Order: sequence, then structure tokens, then C-alpha cells
Amino acid sequence: MNLLAIETSCDETAAAVIAETGDPSAPWRLKSSVVASQDAIHREWGGVVPELASRQHLRDICGVVERALEQASVTWTDLGAVAVTQGPGLVGSLLVGVSLAKSIAWSCGLPLVPVHHLAGHIESLVLHHGELALPSAVLVVSGGHTSLYFIREPGRYELIGRTRDDAAGEAYDKVAKLLGLGYPGGPLIDRLAQAGNDRAYAFPVPRMTHADRNQPAATAPPGLLPPGLERRVDFSFSGLKTAVMRLVKEKRDSRDLDQADVADIAASFQRVVVEALLDRTFEAARFLGARSLGIAGGVSANSRLRAEAHARGGKAGLPVFVPPSSLSTDNAAMIGAAGLRRLRAGVTAGWDLNANPSLTL
Ligand code: KG4
Ligand code: ZN
Repeated sequence: MNLLAIETSCDETAAAVIAETGDPSAPWRLKSSVVASQDAIHREWGGVVPELASRQHLRDICGVVERALEQASVTWTDLGAVAVTQGPGLVGSLLVGVSLAKSIAWSCGLPLVPVHHLAGHIESLVLHHGELALPSAVLVVSGGHTSLYFIREPGRYELIGRTRDDAAGEAYDKVAKLLGLGYPGGPLIDRLAQAGNDRAYAFPVPRMTHADRNQPAATAPPGLLPPGLERRVDFSFSGLKTAVMRLVKEKRDSRDLDQADVADIAASFQRVVVEALLDRTFEAARFLGARSLGIAGGVSANSRLRAEAHARGGKAGLPVFVPPSSLSTDNAAMIGAAGLRRLRAGVTAGWDLNANPSLTL
């Protein structure tokens, strides 16, 4: 069975065709994946401009879907279902994908499957590596999210930690902007950091353990983690961003930043982000007796995060899985994978399906 998947939650217009393999250990095969990036449009503004994003989705979506079918060598009549990202994301962007998916499903008489964007990022791991050994701890790190999930059974994702302020990718993008680099900042900082000294600056390691009278409730379901760890598995990146901002200002007050400064700041920032992400994920995985650990989402394309995750996994005897970079950043293949998982669990949507920018998983 072939499924057509559509993703337009932010600034990539994407479509993909996924087929079922019949093999329960590696259930899906990617037939085509087409992504039209809007980076060049938003770069000029230093970040995603929602109105420009939805207009560009409208221009690109039909061509992207047609190309995905063509590259998979299938036609409309070869399709068995349509999946689409329902949320979370930018509402105007989501609406373009949801409207087209509904129209295609209705005209071809196909079931329509609504997908949560983060379920897509998680299932990108299964699409590429096959089913993960369960239970599994999976960290989703993207421009909009830094969320740690515990998975005990396929298709059920329990949120156990999340960022209290900025997402990790957002911190990358904001720090890149401070350093006068382009958009998106993650890949640029990743590249520059390789030439820098990661110990040049001692940026504060983000912690969520301070006593606070207005302390929000922990993210993990009560009783799953011990009280100390429960708080430690939440993330925070806004303090780190402020520390970089202060340093850059201090330096600029005396002289212009040179290339070596920028590389050292990028490397020092990246070291702290990667440590914060991996310390918590590995600690939670160990406590919960996870048999595998996954990292997905745009930031999982980061070279240091990948290398350190694999090194730590090797030491801990815990298999670590990361998608190839084509499946790390936003794409529709992952939405197809999560869509097939849901379709087989009996989930389909009615014709009243609407985009939901704050959909929860
Ligand atoms: O998953 P994604 O494509 O979109 C969202 O769902 O947000 O993630 C995009 C984020 C951006 O913040 C981008 O800077 C970051 O992923 N990113 C990276 C790298 N490649 C993309 N961050 C660090 N290192 C990278 N190599
Ligand atoms: Zn994403």
C-alpha cells in the first residue's frame, strides 16, 4: 500500500510517498521525498515570516506533490491513503497542507490520516532504522521543540521533559543572528564551531533545579521519575542565549569580533548545548531502563550532537539512533511513517479536519 504524505507546518513545503513492506521489524519503505525549502525567502528577514511562508506553500505545494508521485513512479490510482501534518506549527502554513490533503483524499476516495509533527520526527527513526528496541527514550530537538519522550509501546509517546523557554534550534538560530551569521543558524554554527576552541568561554550550563516559589509542575507523569530527576529532565536555553548576547556586546564595545572570536563563541556555545541535551537524555534513559535511545528533529543533524551521542551510547552499551540528515530537518517522509502507524492503529480523520497550531501529542 502506498501512502502520500504532506508536510507544511513551517517553512518547508514537502511531500513523500511511503510504502508498507510487510516486514514488522522494518515496516516502511521510502519511495520518494521532495522538500522545497523557503530558507532563501526568510533569510532576508532573519527568521520565518508566517505570512510569506503560507503564500509560498500555496505556490509550491501542487508541484511538490506531483514530483513526489513522479519520483515514486506512482499515480493517483496507486495510492491507498493520504497523511498530513495537522499541527503544531504556523496556522496559515498548516492550512495549505491540510486543505490539499483533504481535497486529494476526498477526490480519490482515500482515508485521510492526521499526524502530529513531532510523531513524524520520532517515526523518522523507525523509517530509517526499523523498529527501535523498546522501551526507548527519544529526544526531539528542532527549531520549535526540545522534547524528551519515553516510548513503551509503538505509537504511544509519553512526554517526560521539555524546554521551559527557547527550543535548542531556536537558541542556535538566535545566537547565529547575534554573531551576524545567516538563517537558519544551526548548520552555520555547526560548521564554524569546528574551527573554534570549545573551552574558550565558560557559558553557564542550563539547569532547571533551582528552588523557585513559582516552580511549574514537572513535565513527566507523576511517579515515573524520582523528584530530583523529574526536574532535571526539563530544559532551558534562554539563559545561555543571554550569556552569549552579553559576551558579544562586551567584546563589540572594545573592538569588532574577528573570525576566530566567532568560531570560539560558536564552539563554546555548541559544547554547552550538546552537553545539556545529552546529560539529561542519557540520565533519563538509564533510570527508565531504556533499551534504545533516539535523537530526531533538525538539530539532530548537528555533527557534535551525533558524534557525542554515539560515543556516550557506546560507553553505556545503549544503542543510539539518529536519522540521516535528509530525515532530520522537516520532510514529509517522516509524516508518512507516522501516518501509516496511525492508519494501522485505526485512526482516520473526517472531512471536518482542521489545522491545529497547538496540537498536543
Ligand atoms: O525540525 P526542523 O527542520 O524544523 C522544526 O520543526 O523546527 O528544525 C529546524 C532547526 C533550526 O533551528 C535549525 O537551525 C536547526 O534545526 N538545525 C541545526 C542543524 N541543522 C538544522 N542545528 C544545529 N546543527 C545543525 N547542523
Ligand atoms: Zn520539525
